Amino acid sequence: MNNVLSKMSPSITKMIRMDHTHVLSTFHKFEVDTSSVRKQAIVKTACLALEIHAQLEEEIFYPALQAVAGDNQVLHKAKPEHDEMKRLIAELRGLAPEDEAFDLKFHELMRDVMHHVADEETVLLPAAELLLKDRLGELGAQMTRRRLELAGPRVAEIAGNSALAMPAGTMLMAGGLLAGGYLLKRAFEQRRH
Ligand SMILES: [Fe+2]
Ligand SMILES: [Fe+2]
Repeated sequence: MNNVLSKMSPSITKMIRMDHTHVLSTFHKFEVDTSSVRKQAIVKTACLALEIHAQLEEEIFYPALQAVAGDNQVLHKAKPEHDEMKRLIAELRGLAPEDEAFDLKFHELMRDVMHHVADEETVLLPAAELLLKDRLGELGAQMTRRRLELAGPRVAEIAGNSALAMPAGTMLMAGGLLAGGYLLKRAFEQRRH
């Protein structure tokens, strides 16, 4: 399995960019006149994907970069920004889509995440590609292994939310949200047998 993962996993920086792309495309499905059921599914999909992504970065990417990057201001504020994001996610979970504050809170989360993603993509990922260039593949495999541990037990919930959040025919996006959906699908099938 380890060898298979190493061969199938994208590099860690590619995987982080893929996660960002999928979360941003989920954001773009949220519109003022979207139905409440779909709004809720979009928010649940985005929040769970963000939580898993943040944990993977905190456990694997940030420490690896910290060890070689020295004093990097963007890296210093990355974890506090995740903490603020988690606070907004907790607030959103206490609201119903019909509440006036629901849209405002989700827009605030979107705005914060977009700034954070821009910093990562213009500062942290290029720094990693320079300073960790021999370790990007190994770290990518490590991230895929950990992602399976975190997301595997929640694959049914993820698939259910994604089915409601995405219009028919775009279910590939659901797998993409986890950037390793093919492995998760296999894990899910194995659990059912
Ligand atoms: Fe981050
Ligand atoms: Fe990120």
